[in-house]
Amino acid sequence: MTISSSTSITSQEEGQGLSINPQALVDCLPALQYRQDTLCIEDVSVDTLVEHYDTPCYVYSKQAILEVYHEYSDSFAALNHQICYAVKANSNLAVLGVLAEAGAGFDIVSAGELSRVLAAGGDPSRVVFSGVGKSLADIRYALETGIACFNVESESELEMIQAVAEQLGVQAAISLRVNPNVDAGTHPYISTGLKDNKFGVAHEKAVEVYQHAASLPNIIIKGIDCHIGSQLTEVAPFLDALDKILELITELKELGIELEHIDLGGGLGVQYIDESPISIKDFAAALLPKLTELNLSVWFEPGRSIVANAGVLLTKVEVLKPTEHKNFAIVDAAMNDLIRPALYQAQMAIIPNVLPTNSMIASNTRTWDIVGAICETGDFLAKDRVLCLAVGDILAITGAGAYGFVMSSNYNTRPRAAEVMVSEEQHQLIRPREDVQELFASERLWEG
Ligand code: LLP
Repeated sequence: MTISSSTSITSQEEGQGLSINPQALVDCLPALQYRQDTLCIEDVSVDTLVEHYDTPCYVYSKQAILEVYHEYSDSFAALNHQICYAVKANSNLAVLGVLAEAGAGFDIVSAGELSRVLAAGGDPSRVVFSGVGKSLADIRYALETGIACFNVESESELEMIQAVAEQLGVQAAISLRVNPNVDAGTHPYISTGLKDNKFGVAHEKAVEVYQHAASLPNIIIKGIDCHIGSQLTEVAPFLDALDKILELITELKELGIELEHIDLGGGLGVQYIDESPISIKDFAAALLPKLTELNLSVWFEPGRSIVANAGVLLTKVEVLKPTEHKNFAIVDAAMNDLIRPALYQAQMAIIPNVLPTNSMIASNTRTWDIVGAICETGDFLAKDRVLCLAVGDILAITGAGAYGFVMSSNYNTRPRAAEVMVSEEQHQLIRPREDVQELFASERLWEG
């Protein structure tokens, strides 16, 4: 069994697992490279990172984040636009700070995310507040902070915003999040624009809700919004959704309701292994003709596409457990660190820190399930991967910059991983590994 030396990223032979060619994959990921067969993130070797920060450890490339952010802003430069990074994808203050400094706006879904944006130096006047369940306290905090706009998802939310704005004696800017009933063609858990989903106001009801909004004294209608799902690899669903929104804009205009912006949400997919999602440039080229004639400011809420491939999760092989039916490689990261494979059957690439030599490949390669130490069968990071492994090896799970650390937990009383940022040859701890004692320091024994 040999790992292909061709440029194709994956190969799979009958009865064997998925083999990923690490060099070919890394050639597609600007943040990563092998130098003298050793993995580097920007100009810092994984060896150096592990020496300083141990494993499991998330590492993010500052330049990779900025590169994608600028690709968005350059691709839409012909229009008045705003890129509101979706904070939920990765909310570490360092990540938010880098984007704030570059001029990004932010898409938030909680008061907590708003606090983070402010702590990172983000400008509240570039913040848009999405989400189906904003509380009165969330709305008050957002109005006091002076955010740009609420993306309203229901009539009752509209009433709540009206009530809080009236109490505070302010005007609240809103967009309606319209559910266009478009199939995003993605995993059902991350599809949001179908009428069965809890999100947004049905396309057919939108005009009525806008008219209601127009009658409310403390509400100012600013825009229209939609977000149809995540990890979309094709442009067609975006165009279908846009067409539905354009129809509504025309209808609203006829009723005297003029908008200032259109928010097309996030959702652009990334390459995890060998997917080929539409590039940001091609995405822009497809949308621009329709958007240019609109003459509205265009907002986007990208999350995954900005940070996913800027990040890796580094993990160490602790135990190798070949059995008669399956070979298990037990690593020091687990589903509590990275839940995407367990929750969405997400396939993420796992590549070695050091490229194996041909003789190592010939003698040590097997098909492994890469699993964590948690007491759940669902605790896996990848299944059936052809890898050449030894205890103590360091592996990198790529594409882990988005929905990685933010979805991590302390299940099994496991301290959450460290987070590190790299820029050129510099590296810095941006969140220390949690300490077991601090996990239960605020708990109290029953004293009754
Ligand atoms: N705007 C809204 C209103 C959203 O709900 C989302 C994501 C985004 C923007 C950003 O979408 P993106 O550009 O990142 O696709 N945890 C899942 C993904 C959940 C996405 C939720 N909403 C995963 O790991 O795949």
